[in-house]
Amino acid sequence: MTTLLVTGGAGFIGTNFIRHMLKTRPDWRIVNLDVLTYAGNAANLDDMARQMPERYCFVRGDINDSHRVMDLLRNERPWAVVHFAAESHVDRSILGPLAFVETNVTGTARLLIACRQVWEESGRPADFRFVHVSTDEVYGSLGPEGYFTETTAYDPSSPYSASKAASDHLVRAWHCTYGFPAMVTNCSNNYGPYQFPEKLIPLMILNILEEKPLPVYGDGANVRDWLYVVDHCEALATVLEKGAPGQTYNIGGGAERRNIDVVQQLCSLLDDRLDRRGDRRSQRLIRFVTDRPGHDRRYAIDAAKIQHELGWRPRFRFEEALADTVDWYLANGPWVDFVRSGDYRRWIETNYGPDGTRAAQTVKEHPTT
Ligand code: NAD
Ligand code: DAU
Repeated sequence: MTTLLVTGGAGFIGTNFIRHMLKTRPDWRIVNLDVLTYAGNAANLDDMARQMPERYCFVRGDINDSHRVMDLLRNERPWAVVHFAAESHVDRSILGPLAFVETNVTGTARLLIACRQVWEESGRPADFRFVHVSTDEVYGSLGPEGYFTETTAYDPSSPYSASKAASDHLVRAWHCTYGFPAMVTNCSNNYGPYQFPEKLIPLMILNILEEKPLPVYGDGANVRDWLYVVDHCEALATVLEKGAPGQTYNIGGGAERRNIDVVQQLCSLLDDRLDRRGDRRSQRLIRFVTDRPGHDRRYAIDAAKIQHELGWRPRFRFEEALADTVDWYLANGPWVDFVRSGDYRRWIETNYGPDGTRAAQTVKEHPTT
């Protein structure tokens, strides 16, 4: 059986990736290394652990714990590593950047050191692969025209995107300097099941459901290029199996939408399902609130390289997959309740203020966070 090591597999995309790979690659075994921050939930994969204990294994551990990672690599001998583990929320990076440096930069460096050492000890197997899952945010902000290609200069705006940019450079340096067979993927905004409700789409779904204010940053005209998470998982599988070491692949869905349009679409999807009409329609909940500092205006991916060289294409249409996502959140109340326990309420109050509109929000940082 082929063993794959996934880091950060208890988070949103990692969970979807593991589920997808266990379903589509029957002779693969997956080891999921995740430290379980607020964003990680091992229970996302409990059914897999129960149904196929010989094919799925969860290990609680930190990518910064080099001894732990080396032991795992020596015992499991994975043919590849797919690295998702990260701090991933831009707003949190604005309020507390150091965790982003520690996980995304130092954590990735430590993981690379450990993986390379075990790869060297094993005689540098030619088919070993390391896939670093990164973001289009490293390229900064676009004006109304143009797209990010793999050669667009890096120009990150937030502590999150700066930390991901640094990690991308480290991964490329490991390939150039040591010949380590690593690849980088830069993907646009994902949506779908299991996304932590601090991100735009699940946050809005749950606020609409509970008739809370819908906080749209700035004028709501910022544009994101949305990709259904299953399409992202298929792209990552394609890069893993067909990509060339040292290469970078942009991944995007070609579904550019303004934030305000996404929020309005969610309002109407939920109004249909909840039978809200007239003056009960959810659009009444929309509030334009204090903008995110350094807020990138537009992201748009040129995915021609992965399409032409590796043959990947997105399969899901935004409108249909968004409706499926709404239905998933409606059908999974216990999951929502579970992930919103813990420090979730504190985060919502810190980022949005007591009335949910960021009226009193100030950007203040504790010097050690
Ligand atoms: P997420 O925040 O939902 O999950 C991150 C996971 O990493 C969590 O399970 C967390 O417990 C784990 N983790 C954090 N620190 C760790 C550590 N030190 N050791 C081990 N595990 C740790 O994130 P996501 O949205 O699933 O994103 C996954 C990856 O994809 C990230 O690297 C992110 O930068 C990238 N990405 C995300 C998107 C998106 O739209 N969400 C788009 C492009 C790229
Ligand atoms: O582009 C890929 C990136 O997409 C990933 O690398 C990040 O991990 C992921 O979080 C996401 O980053 P964004 O900052 O684009 O996602 P977020 O869901 O936080 O915000 C999407 C847009 O919606 C952005 O323009 C900010 C806006 N927004 C967000 C929130 C949470 C609001 O207007 N109101 C909100 O309450």
